[in-house]
Amino acid sequence: MKIDQVRLTEVAEEFQTPVYIYSAEKILANYDAYRRGFGDYPHLICYAVKANSNLSILKLLAEAGSGFDIVSRGELKRVLAAGGDPKKVVYSGVGKRNCDLEFALNAGIGCFNVESVAEVYMLNKIAGKLGVKAPVSLRINPNVDAKTHPYISTGLKENKFGISMTDALPMYREMARMPHIDIQGIDFHIGSQLTEIEPYAEALDITLALIDELSALGIHLKHLDMGGGLGIRYEDETLIDPAEWIDQAIEKIGDRDLKILIEPGRSIVGDAGVLVTQVILTKENEGKNFAVVDAAMNDLIRPALYSSWMNIINLDERDEGEVKNYDIVGPICETGDFLGKDRQLALTSGDYLAITHAGAYGFTMASNYNSRGRAAEVLLVGDQAKLIRKRESEESLYAEELQYL
Ligand code: LLP
Repeated sequence: MKIDQVRLTEVAEEFQTPVYIYSAEKILANYDAYRRGFGDYPHLICYAVKANSNLSILKLLAEAGSGFDIVSRGELKRVLAAGGDPKKVVYSGVGKRNCDLEFALNAGIGCFNVESVAEVYMLNKIAGKLGVKAPVSLRINPNVDAKTHPYISTGLKENKFGISMTDALPMYREMARMPHIDIQGIDFHIGSQLTEIEPYAEALDITLALIDELSALGIHLKHLDMGGGLGIRYEDETLIDPAEWIDQAIEKIGDRDLKILIEPGRSIVGDAGVLVTQVILTKENEGKNFAVVDAAMNDLIRPALYSSWMNIINLDERDEGEVKNYDIVGPICETGDFLGKDRQLALTSGDYLAITHAGAYGFTMASNYNSRGRAAEVLLVGDQAKLIRKRESEESLYAEELQYL
């Protein structure tokens, strides 16, 4: 199997396993699908950094003109380190501390996506202290069912995200009177890995009705941020076409003078990355076959955490052996440590396997559980394979620890 002309097995041999391998070309193509969808319509694509925050990937997108959706001071520092434009940054998240707000204000970010009444007051106070005005959008909670996994559904009223529809209008009126708040827009993000367009249409209608009510009160918004969430095809999911999604929004917005912002993460990097791992050994327990590989739930937690199905292919073309039903498991001491179950594969120890569609929420969710260093990351650029993150050394895992005894 090849992506971008570079054999994955060769990359695995060069950089060892487990290794994340991304395609620059695919990332840019995914970004471009959104850009083409907007055409001349005023817009800003704010890539959701949490999906994959490697500096080289942020730089690639920054150079393509992308903005960024961040949820922490750490992500903002990454964006700045990668040369991203702070003016193109929107800052989401339910728990920003005073120090986070202050850092982002000083950095001059484009907009705070405020998620609570309390945050508005904190922001007004800190902006006052710094003698500036904070650009603000309220993240509303439109109370729509995004029909995705409950852990990644965010637009229902029982979720912790956003400001309720009842609080939103009074809050805008109040903000209009605050000396250090500069009302910019409104935003929603209803969930992730969405495969149906209807929940977006519903959220959009609800938001536009509120925008009109605000207009009638003399509060005019400059932008509407529709969040991210478009799904990718892990197995056989139906996909939302970015252009269709954008067209629908432009049509619904009509002649209201609103710039559109979006915050895609998974749909930019998800299908542009694979995790390559090597089979350590195979074993059979009472008729059940296991392939124990060198990647584990600490490298890729999606199967364990959300019971996500991710495709696993054998990169070793020599294997003409017997196809068996395998559970692909890691070396971690947890039954939940699996990457795939019941996979029909022919494999032997030493084979390289690729877990596909692992470019989003793979490395960024990795941990050091069982004192395992995090994987190396490689970016394929043309026919070059560039190491963009060294494998984490085991010594570095305890380097910050202090020995009292
Ligand atoms: N904007 C906000 C405010 C978000 O919370 C998220 C994702 C995004 C944008 C980007 O959503 P995307 O386009 O990537 O769906 N770890 C989970 C996904 C968590 C998503 C969290 N928020 C997974 O592996 O499926």
